[in-house]
Amino acid sequence: MRYNQIVKSNVTINVLSNLEELSEAAKISFLEIANESIQKRGRFLISLSGGNTPMKLYEKLAHEKLAWEKVYFFWGDERCVPVDDAGNCYGQTKKILFDKIGQTNIQRIESDLEPASAAKAYANTLKDFAEPPLDWPRFDLALLGMGDDGHTASLFPGSPVEVNSATVAVVANYQDRPANRVSLTQNVFNTARNIFFLVSGSSKAETLKKVLSSEYAPLELPAQRIDPQNGKVVWFVDSAAASLL
Ligand code: 6PG
Repeated sequence: MRYNQIVKSNVTINVLSNLEELSEAAKISFLEIANESIQKRGRFLISLSGGNTPMKLYEKLAHEKLAWEKVYFFWGDERCVPVDDAGNCYGQTKKILFDKIGQTNIQRIESDLEPASAAKAYANTLKDFAEPPLDWPRFDLALLGMGDDGHTASLFPGSPVEVNSATVAVVANYQDRPANRVSLTQNVFNTARNIFFLVSGSSKAETLKKVLSSEYAPLELPAQRIDPQNGKVVWFVDSAAASLL
């Protein structure tokens, strides 16, 4: 099963049967955007997400041919635990992807620091890639997930909706995952050229329905804060997550 639904002019929802198909569809679109970015601007700036859902995509990408030396990897968020901790986003991706394609141009969040220091250091890293007048790069693609509670990256329900920084330090308990985190804010995501949300599983169905409904509740549903001014949003969701749409 695969179908497209256009919600707004810049928002598309792709519903796929299962995580395997979702990851395959996301991989194809990822490679298209990467190749186009490299052709047009000489490099591809990608912000990765943590969580379980994108791991199959990363596994698939590890087998693909791409000018990897022109790909600049960043993260939308990170958990402040050592790299060899199972909860570290960079560490997860290293095993699945970087150890296969070679480590080039990786701008990881310094997860061994306290969240406030790591957030500050990461904001400085972003400045090195800034596209003026922004203090940060315009990502060619930002990958995001969505929690059962509607969080995205490490922007959790109840966190401030109005922020003027590029990064934030966060303490948030979600499932059994590390609580100390660093996140990009929606200010950065909302200047990306493309955003993919990868969402899988029936535990997300209720929240996905609310996030995609017309009722705007960004305090409770941080995923709704993502609304790029000049970019496209594509949701890749499996049929379990889409069951209430
Ligand atoms: C992180 C995230 C987070 C994640 C969601 C969904 O914790 O690293 O970036 O926002 O995407 O919690 O996680 P799952 O894909 O595991 O459901």
